Amino acid sequence: MHPDVSEILYTEEQLSEAVKKLGAKISEDYRGKNLCMVAVLKGSLVFMADLMRAITIPCSIDFLAVSSYGNSTKSSGEVRLVKDLDGPLANKDLLIVEDILDSGVTLSYLKKALSARNPRSIRICTLLDKPHRRKTDITADYYGFITPDAFIVGYGLDYAERYRNLPYIGVLKPSIYE
Ligand code: IMP
Ligand code: MG
Repeated sequence: MHPDVSEILYTEEQLSEAVKKLGAKISEDYRGKNLCMVAVLKGSLVFMADLMRAITIPCSIDFLAVSSYGNSTKSSGEVRLVKDLDGPLANKDLLIVEDILDSGVTLSYLKKALSARNPRSIRICTLLDKPHRRKTDITADYYGFITPDAFIVGYGLDYAERYRNLPYIGVLKPSIYE
């Protein structure tokens, strides 16, 4: 285990099992639709790469990036689109793929901004959900785990751009960011 991590929350095996279940459910729900998976960079990168390989129906992918936490562990409450999607959304059944749904500020903004471009449908798949931290009324259509209120890293999630490459998800020691 990494010395900056106090506890492993989800092991590689648990993550892999959860992702496979999500992939099976999404493949079933989107049969006959025009699935386009949209990953929110950079945190969703690892989840997206695994989830798309657990999808058994035709699908396309696209990416966008929003400004995030900077080097802090709390959201600034302000969302900025840093990289936009490549393609138009008409006739697409969008599935926004996120790492964590926390305050909900990011996904509320994204769902509204992308809905305005008239996709055929729009849903949210988040690996982790912290529902008790919500500040907007957004909910995920698909989620992997309900996560306790701790700052966590690994499997794409970072603190100050570090720890994204850990293959598991763990709690970051508060001494690292305090
Ligand atoms: P929201 O707008 O507050 O819902 O923020 C969601 C984003 O905050 C996620 O996509 C993550 O990038 C980041 N985030 C929230 N909680 C954590 C955490 O515990 N560790 C790492 N990043 C987090
Ligand atoms: Mg993120």
